[in-house]
Amino acid sequence: MMFRMRLAAATVLAVLIAGCAGTTAVTPSASPVATSTVTATTAPTASSATATQATTAAISCTAPAQPLVELTEGPYYKANPPQNATLRTAGVAGTPLTLTGYVVSTSCQPIAGAKLDFWQADGNGNYDNSGYTLRGWQLTDANGAYRLETVIPGLYPGRTEHIHFKVTVNGKTYTSQLFFPGVSQNEGDSIYSSRMLVTLNTSTSPVTGTFTFVVNTA
Ligand SMILES: [Fe+2]
Repeated sequence: MMFRMRLAAATVLAVLIAGCAGTTAVTPSASPVATSTVTATTAPTASSATATQATTAAISCTAPAQPLVELTEGPYYKANPPQNATLRTAGVAGTPLTLTGYVVSTSCQPIAGAKLDFWQADGNGNYDNSGYTLRGWQLTDANGAYRLETVIPGLYPGRTEHIHFKVTVNGKTYTSQLFFPGVSQNEGDSIYSSRMLVTLNTSTSPVTGTFTFVVNTA
């Protein structure tokens, strides 16, 4: 009960903050734990028809949730990336993508202050191995939410589209990759996991995606 009350209060606060920022406010679901996947974006209301930013509506999580699948780090991680949630900068190739969601426990409790470290190729499948373009980390906010401004990564030999990440909770780091639905190269990629697919809405600009990072904190 206490968790429900806290989450409800946090959700109301998040909606208020979103409203102040001019983004689309979404009515939260009645239950803090969604029993099915919740669409993260909604059609803009008449009063916010120009809003194109994704608004995370609710936590897409059903307890007990399966923790994320840990996958290889790959060869292109660079240590000491900057703290930066906006990886998309002018001139970077690729379709703009806004990815939002939460870091949660297997009981679907949001985790504030979780560290999310992302790195990826640009839309042409190229990594910046000399600098830190498309590399950066962020902390989840008080509601356990994150927001990543980036591009959809391109293909490179042997790999389907993917975004690498490390998520750190309570000093333990989990490394894996996110994938994109409808990419024909997914099934031929030995690293691919369908459990790590983002939910994508390509009708928005930028394209919006959601993913819930489930971490086993037990
Ligand atoms: Fe990669």
